[in-house]
Amino acid sequence: MLSLLPDPWHFPRKEFANQILASLNGGLVNSLALFAPRRMGKTQFVLRDLLPAHFKNGGDALYFNLWENKASPENVMIEALRAHIEGLKGASAKKSGKVSTSIDLVIVKFQAEYGHDLAAKGPVEAVAAAIRIWAEVLRSKKQIGLLVIDEVQHLATSDKFTNFTAALRTALEGSADCIKAVFTGSSQAGLTRMFYDTKAAFYGPGSQISLPRFGDDFIEFITQKADETYKRPFAVADVAHVFELHNQSPYFLRQSLNFAVLKGVALKTGARQVGMELYIELGLQEKWVALSNIEQTIVQCIYSKDQLYTESTRERISAITGERVTARKIQLAVEKLEKGEWIDKALDGRYEIADPVVTAYIVEVANANAALKHKKAL
Ligand SMILES: Nc1ncnc2c1ncn2[C@@H]1O[C@H](COP(=O)(O)OP(=O)(O)OP(=O)(O)O)[C@@H](O)[C@H]1O
Ligand SMILES: [Mg+2]
Repeated sequence: MLSLLPDPWHFPRKEFANQILASLNGGLVNSLALFAPRRMGKTQFVLRDLLPAHFKNGGDALYFNLWENKASPENVMIEALRAHIEGLKGASAKKSGKVSTSIDLVIVKFQAEYGHDLAAKGPVEAVAAAIRIWAEVLRSKKQIGLLVIDEVQHLATSDKFTNFTAALRTALEGSADCIKAVFTGSSQAGLTRMFYDTKAAFYGPGSQISLPRFGDDFIEFITQKADETYKRPFAVADVAHVFELHNQSPYFLRQSLNFAVLKGVALKTGARQVGMELYIELGLQEKWVALSNIEQTIVQCIYSKDQLYTESTRERISAITGERVTARKIQLAVEKLEKGEWIDKALDGRYEIADPVVTAYIVEVANANAALKHKKAL
């Protein structure tokens, strides 16, 4: 079981959590992929909404974030699986006063097979075996296990992970009756690769869903919470403005509010300062300047949701960059921007800015350019 510190600012999304669980429990599919760009609330949703809803239904669950140990995700998983299976044994002993024989047997089997010989067997085989053993425990307890793998696209970033990915997939296929999986990712291209690159996919067509964006109810919730907590009323319109500024990322809104309260400044000033601190930390200015004129313009076009390959966009890019821009040139620039994690393809096939901090930066650049033009004109 997960134990998280309470977050009084958490805006619950129970309905969406139940929708996902209903889909998995319905049995038509055993796995789903949940997509959202960076800092949009994926991890918080799975930890604070999805898993608690599943526990409420009497289920068991395991959560992994593959970015916790990028070099060897299999090691993270084997340790967590081992601890979890041991924990199930402890919980069962406490509940009944004695250790349940069936669980005890699978644990003993697990330890005999892998406990003492982990290094020799290798973590890849051990993970697959541990999943099978977890499945046996679940069957004996008539429980459904939910396996959440956060940032799953990491497995598609290196050939080093091919064996592990295949072993994981096979183990999950063999345990589909009692283990359901939710994969999350912040790279749509990466998630799609997970889908196509493998002979038997991690999830099927139609099983990729976007984490819904927060709506007006979220803005109202946060505004009210800020009033209650700080006794300092913020205008709903200002909160909404700042939320939009950072591409509707809850993270930036919270950071901006905190900054405004801490330094006693207006919320908009807080939002700008938070943005600045991040631009510096991420070296965004240097990275932006290193982009070609065409690349910068394409990022701006994507920000303003312009179609990339139309005649008029091409002409506009040509006019701004001062060189004749062909569709091929646009395509090459798009590929480079995708690799550089500036942009990413959304589920509807359109490109979007990959990180909300980049969105805010582009607004900043546009404002600075407009101010410069204005100054020159005077
Ligand atoms: N439901 C929510 N209610 C209030 N705040 C939230 C909510 N979800 C996310 N946040 C805020 O946004 C921050 C980022 O959320 P989270 O880490 O879940 O995003 P993520 O999409 O997993 O980001 P990353 O791509 O960096 O892994 C949280 O630390 C929290 O401050
Ligand atoms: Mg996350």
